[in-house]
Amino acid sequence: MSYYQVKNLEQYFKHYNKSIREPRKFWERIADENFTWYQKWDKVVEFDMQEANIKWFLNAKVNITKNCIDRHLAKRGDKTAIIFEPNNPAEEAQHITYNELYDRVCKMANVLRDQGIKKGDRVCIYLPMIPELAVAVLACARIGAIHSVVFAGFSASAVTSRINDSGCKMVITSDGGFRGNKTIELKSIIDEALQKCETVEKVLVVKRTGSEVKMKEGRDIWLQPLLDEAMANNVAEIMDAEDPLFILYTSGSTGKPKGMLHTTAGYMVYSAYTFKNIFAYEENDVYWCTADIGWITGHSYIVYGPLLNGATTVIFEGIPSYPDFGRFWEVIDKHKVTQFYTAPTAIRSLAKENWEWVDKYDLSTLKVIGSVGEPINEEAWHWYNDHVGKKKSPIVDTWWQTETGGIMISPLPFVTPTKPTYATLPLPGVQPVLMDEKRNEIEGNQVVGSLCIKFPWPGMARSIWGDHQRFKETYFSTFPGKYFTGDGALRDEVGYYRITGRVDDVVIVSGHNLGTAPIEDAINEHPAVAESAIVGFPHDVKGNALYGFIILKESGEGRDRENLKKEINEHISSHIGPIAKLDKIQFVSGLPKTRSGKIMRRILRKIAEGDFSNFGDTTTLLNPEIVEEIKEGKL
Ligand code: WT7
Repeated sequence: MSYYQVKNLEQYFKHYNKSIREPRKFWERIADENFTWYQKWDKVVEFDMQEANIKWFLNAKVNITKNCIDRHLAKRGDKTAIIFEPNNPAEEAQHITYNELYDRVCKMANVLRDQGIKKGDRVCIYLPMIPELAVAVLACARIGAIHSVVFAGFSASAVTSRINDSGCKMVITSDGGFRGNKTIELKSIIDEALQKCETVEKVLVVKRTGSEVKMKEGRDIWLQPLLDEAMANNVAEIMDAEDPLFILYTSGSTGKPKGMLHTTAGYMVYSAYTFKNIFAYEENDVYWCTADIGWITGHSYIVYGPLLNGATTVIFEGIPSYPDFGRFWEVIDKHKVTQFYTAPTAIRSLAKENWEWVDKYDLSTLKVIGSVGEPINEEAWHWYNDHVGKKKSPIVDTWWQTETGGIMISPLPFVTPTKPTYATLPLPGVQPVLMDEKRNEIEGNQVVGSLCIKFPWPGMARSIWGDHQRFKETYFSTFPGKYFTGDGALRDEVGYYRITGRVDDVVIVSGHNLGTAPIEDAINEHPAVAESAIVGFPHDVKGNALYGFIILKESGEGRDRENLKKEINEHISSHIGPIAKLDKIQFVSGLPKTRSGKIMRRILRKIAEGDFSNFGDTTTLLNPEIVEEIKEGKL
């Protein structure tokens, strides 16, 4: 197998240049050498970036699960595919081999077919982080059903809108799920959600918590008895390269969530290629990504990417703080994890705790540690590097999006020298560009602009389910002919990229463009500050002024607030300049965050403006109660 695996920087540039000069040949070789196809393509890529029409590996025939499972059986049948680490550390971990995974996916696929699911049907999966979640995803892919995984923390109304948007015929859920010391009643959330759904005919229910549930006659069925009856082999559906593989909803900054549509072959090639390169995966490694399979990170880097590479992937049901703040590190020690991939928000929350929680575990098996989801600030980067990576495991700060299907800009471990807060260089095959306000490409280094991608890549989303026009407008219209990411970035003197945050997070104060992320970084360096969020609000003289919402560390809570405000502004002044000083500071106990850890600035902006009338869609918030608290604190 060969993914153009890069061994040193010289080779990186060689591959990179080839990928730009001859993108078709570059991707063709990767597709050719690493997968089993029923039939190969007639053409590598066909695209119209103005109309947002992109096709890869035209007319190829393939099934992604044959590549995730079947082809490994001869050599790796007894190898562990999935390690399941339950929420409760006292419950035994499960080691599921590739042979067992094959049996389980085949049985599940047969159950789905028996229950009337056919190629092209949409299946909503609403499950906690248990092996059945991965099995259900793969079983859909096996028979060509389109999975739409909805994160099992979403509310009933969020589930309703997602089911209705894609017209799901079936829901796969469980009685409940464990999360720390809580139990979440998933089945009753589905019952509520389905009161307003017309298309769902069957609900398959996994038993996990033993909670009492109501089963609706004719609609709801316990899964296990069906599996017990099912055959452990199954003929995979032959899929066209561009047949839909899944829909995954991502919240737009306004309006209803967007059902990003990913298709079969391009996604397969891209998730496998990026996984192998970015995590430098080798045969006996144990890889752990702490995301939920309900997000793209879990799709690409818990399920598909690792299994396509015949890897061992950990599925963790729990949370970082249960039963205590040492859980992540205990799990790494226990399963001898070699690659660990998590989010800055998790790193920051653990960095607030005593580092002895980390240091008491043996993390010496780690080779590569990763970060994803938002810019990682300097302080968190160093904490991660010092205490987790022990300065020997490179941090891969991976930039990408639900829409990109896989990682786009990231250091390659042991190849790209890392630089705190920088996602560094594009992967071979990825062509980022920075654009200015006049829609011109900015050449050269030491520049900032809007981040676009100017050539298609196999993993990119092909559409928004049911709304291709919105797809075109959102991503291909701002800079015609290019894919617009919505992020701003800078390119430093050597060509490294640093994502500065969403372009809409830039505030213009007295005519100066100020990215909120670097100001937050500066504030977060103040010893009393745990976390902060900056937004702009209208100002008579400056046009906009800055409003800071700041969470204090425990050690800062006893301090005089007025003095602290002064100190924080002096700190900003000396780090960025007096222009970036905050006009208003409000100390808060939390920030409104989406479940993937992103601050919902839209809400903070409204509060800062004093407009409490309409906060828009808040169904994706993890902590809706904080909004009230912040509002009251402002009054
Ligand atoms: C947005 C995409 C990619 C999977 C998880 C989030 C931000 C993501 C980084 C990073 C700075 C990052 C961007 C991007 N983002 N990774 N390493 N450094 N920012 O997926 O919910 O689709 O969010 O997350 O702003 O556009 P998503």
